Amino acid sequence: MITHIYLDKTFQIRENYSFKHFLQTILMAKITVLNGPNLNLLGIREPGHYGNKTLVDIENTVKSKANELGHQLDFYQSNAEHEIINTIHSAFDDQVDFIIINPAAFTHTSVAIRDALLATKIPFIEVHLSNVHAREAFRAKSYFSDIAIGVICGLGATGYELALQAAHQILVER
Ligand code: DQA
Repeated sequence: MITHIYLDKTFQIRENYSFKHFLQTILMAKITVLNGPNLNLLGIREPGHYGNKTLVDIENTVKSKANELGHQLDFYQSNAEHEIINTIHSAFDDQVDFIIINPAAFTHTSVAIRDALLATKIPFIEVHLSNVHAREAFRAKSYFSDIAIGVICGLGATGYELALQAAHQILVER
């Protein structure tokens, strides 16, 4: 028995298609999370600043939340500037809709990563686990904040989840 008929995003009629699935198909976005140098050491690295969660803990949490929201999420970490730049270029080729980036120490130095984000025009949110404004003066300077959609800092691992929630809201409303 046919209970529901909906059009999918290619405008073909699909039978017995749940409304939730229908909405998820229409709204599904590609999101890339990028992490800069030394974030692979989370869990043992200066827990007073960065907390006790590992990067794998953060990856698992944001991937499962992205899945619940119906998005495809890829998660990367690199200690090398050129690898982060190449990942941004690949995100552009793959038509990624949104980037969440913690550039780590590259926040305060990298014109090259800034230029990659400007070149690809992929909207992004900048995340920092620690409150960079309550630390050494050099951490208050970011090469990303003025071109980011928004900046989240000082909320630990929760900052990644909040960035994902905000990205979802922005993508739904676009
Ligand atoms: C950081 C802050 C940066 O100043 C620092 O170099 C990092 C991590 C953060 O998440 O709080 O590596 O981006």
